Amino acid sequence: MSVCVVVGMQWGDEGKGKIIDLLTEKADVVARYQGGHNAGHTIIFDGNKYILHLIPSGIFRPDKICVIGNGVVIDPAALSEEMQMLKDLGFDYEGRLLISDRANIILPYHRISDLHKEGASGSRKIGTTGRGIGPAYSDKIARVGLRTCDFLDESRLQETLRSNYEEKKKILKNLYGENLPELGEIVDQMLSHRDRFVKYICNTQSFLRDRIAEGKTILCEGAQGTMLDIDHGTYPFVTSSNSTAGGACTGLGIPPARIDRTLGVIKAYTTRVGEGPFPTELHDDYGEQLRNNGDEFGSTTGRPRRCGWFDAVVGKYAVELNGIDAVTLTKIDVLDQLDTIRVCTGYRHHGKIVDGLPASLPVLEQCEPVYTEYPGWQQSTSGIRCFDELPDHAKRYIDGLQDHLGVEIPLISTGPGREETILRGELL
Ligand code: IMP
Repeated sequence: MSVCVVVGMQWGDEGKGKIIDLLTEKADVVARYQGGHNAGHTIIFDGNKYILHLIPSGIFRPDKICVIGNGVVIDPAALSEEMQMLKDLGFDYEGRLLISDRANIILPYHRISDLHKEGASGSRKIGTTGRGIGPAYSDKIARVGLRTCDFLDESRLQETLRSNYEEKKKILKNLYGENLPELGEIVDQMLSHRDRFVKYICNTQSFLRDRIAEGKTILCEGAQGTMLDIDHGTYPFVTSSNSTAGGACTGLGIPPARIDRTLGVIKAYTTRVGEGPFPTELHDDYGEQLRNNGDEFGSTTGRPRRCGWFDAVVGKYAVELNGIDAVTLTKIDVLDQLDTIRVCTGYRHHGKIVDGLPASLPVLEQCEPVYTEYPGWQQSTSGIRCFDELPDHAKRYIDGLQDHLGVEIPLISTGPGREETILRGELL
């Protein structure tokens, strides 16, 4: 039995979907702790590809319980759509899907204001997914949000929406010239989705604590990645929640002392979508190769991802910040064709090596990466399941990453499928 947190170590899109899917086999419960439908978790099995945005990927395994925690922000339309997709595909989630009664709701005005803020002249463009995530979390912190428990009480739902409506209407009209739909229309929209998910709403904190007391294995699933964390990432180019391991405690109501293990997921190179500093970004043919070979296009928005070399400064920062016990390395096969591979082992700022990851955005933007070079292996690693079968230069690269991070890498992913995996140690 254990409680294990799975975190992304870069700017998201590390391949957490596959890793969580693999780990779920040994878990009883999978619980998502933050983010919203800005995330996209891709899972491939039996030759089919599935993308989930809100519901934990454990839903594809028939005996697993899936929890959407209080730290998640839920767009009722997106959740309904995802539930319908699972039904259409024949995956039954009755009795296996639990939604926290304390999760905040993404409302139509959140989405409108997200899109307009991004487009407004004079404001800094973050490159958000445009899903209303930031404005919904802002309302949560401002204590004016609508929560899932309000769906159990229609008059409370109406009252909360009414108390916010006039202010939101004025802001959208005056700032962006946008007309908010009538209050009644918003209430009706919310109520139209209510029937689909209201029966899954419950006190998931006590559910999880009871399962922990029974000795069950709980997998806490983070979305995005360490560098997009609101407190510890490349602020302000971050998402609006705590994607780091601590978010699992606040976003699920699990006491810190009950967390047994933290697993990091890191890609064999780096990507990011949206704006913001990215010291090892490549603007050349290598970057193009990584994007094309790795199919680096957003699973939520379809945007091309920015690509660059592996950044061990970022990796080490993620190890220390999250207290990572073991690392899972994904997409090693994407590097197969490269003649040379570089790893950033430090940053130089105005000629001096910087200690750790600078907080200041201008300083980070001016940092130059210091690289160590590795020879490429230029042969296929795709689908290899045994470490010894890897080309020597691939082994050298993986061992090098392990040394840079200072943490074991017991799992290496050599392709998107469940079976395309090298396991050389214990994970849970
Ligand atoms: P938001 O979360 O939509 O507000 O976007 C804030 C930043 O986080 C933007 O740079 C997005 O591209 C990025 N982001 C949000 N979700 C993901 C994700 O699942 N993968 C990668 N980047 C993400």
